[in-house]
Amino acid sequence: MSLRAFRGEMLVVARDPRDDPDAVQYQADGLLVVEQGLVVARGAYADLAARHATVPTVALPGLIVPGFVDAHVHYPQMDRIAAHGEQLLDWLERHIFPAEQAFASRAHADQVAGAFLDELLRNGTTSALVFATVHDHSVDALFEAALTRQMRIISGKVLMDLGPAGLADTPASARSDTEALIARWRGRGRLGYAVTPRFALTSSDAQLESAGHLLAAHGDVLLHTHLAENRREIDAVGERFPEAADYLDVYDRFGLVGARSVFAHGVHLPDRSCARLAQSGAGIAVCPSSNLFLGSGFFDFGQAEAFGLRTGLGTDVGAGTTFSMLRTAGLAYQAAQARGHRLDPFRALYLATAGSAALLHIADRVGALEPGQEADFAVLDDRATPLLARRTAGASLVDRLFALQILGDDRTIAATYVMGERAWSRT
Ligand code: GUN
Ligand code: ZN
Repeated sequence: MSLRAFRGEMLVVARDPRDDPDAVQYQADGLLVVEQGLVVARGAYADLAARHATVPTVALPGLIVPGFVDAHVHYPQMDRIAAHGEQLLDWLERHIFPAEQAFASRAHADQVAGAFLDELLRNGTTSALVFATVHDHSVDALFEAALTRQMRIISGKVLMDLGPAGLADTPASARSDTEALIARWRGRGRLGYAVTPRFALTSSDAQLESAGHLLAAHGDVLLHTHLAENRREIDAVGERFPEAADYLDVYDRFGLVGARSVFAHGVHLPDRSCARLAQSGAGIAVCPSSNLFLGSGFFDFGQAEAFGLRTGLGTDVGAGTTFSMLRTAGLAYQAAQARGHRLDPFRALYLATAGSAALLHIADRVGALEPGQEADFAVLDDRATPLLARRTAGASLVDRLFALQILGDDRTIAATYVMGERAWSRT
């Protein structure tokens, strides 16, 4: 018999609480029933216990939440996290391109990919949309490591024919490598593919056009790139593409703006871009720790709300300074504050789980622990540090959740489960 159950305090925010006041689902004493890695039932223990009386049940001390979904992160950059001194364009040249050049070695890619996925699990993250490098085998390395861990990972070879020596492909090689990767990995494990031009400045017009063709040819792949992150970057895009109405319009002209498009950052968006994002169904992976670290600015949550943009949260490691989606949610609150907007803690949890899952088109599989979904979850310990224990003692649920977001990090993750199996545990 493969039925198993987990008993404990449970919190799920399956829909955006801004749109649905009943979106917060909470059980002080809940039961999650799992079969073959999938959720069979979730609810109050008192309601479900009788029906599942014979199911082997594990009591989990801590707050059970859906596994986090990191909507934008770079695995090859993990060892260059915390690189001092530059804003985006100089930081790429000085720190990041040299680090990515090392991925010419498949053995190096394998070693980093495993460490990266283990770090995600240590932080309660079970799904992610991930930048690899220009090397096709960097995707093979990540996907093979994800297969062995059963994780839900979406990635793609980076397209960058205008990149520096050692990191430049060509429109033709990018196209054939991407086609081959899609064919090689389609339907395997819990993996997905994203056509991944680095950003407008590192691809020729011919390569951006080819990316549009790849996206059009494969209805099941995402488009993943960067957008309007840094003022100097935006000025350079304006100089190279004077005919485009704005940065987003550059991508639009090559057929790269649609419901399957995920743009990282969008810190500096004209209203025209927001209107077009909303109309097309494209979304933004908001990356507050990165934006603060690189001095890029603060995402405008008020503008995003006014235009009804689809948003999720990303760490953007290595520009981001933490793998923790809890901490990223806390930094999103602080970024919102900087622009006079108040981010609700339940909404921040939604963005870090089901919201990011919706952005990545995997919300039918993960993010809300609904029956039929994959049983990926994290167990949070709101007493993980002496200060957290003091701050959360006797506090309300929303207060505890907010404290976890502001004060929490990897120390706050007691355990991480993937497909109903314990994938990482602090003890
Ligand atoms: N824009 C183009 N490449 C990158 C990258 O690697 N990181 C960030 N944060 N922005 C980018
Ligand atoms: Zn990035």
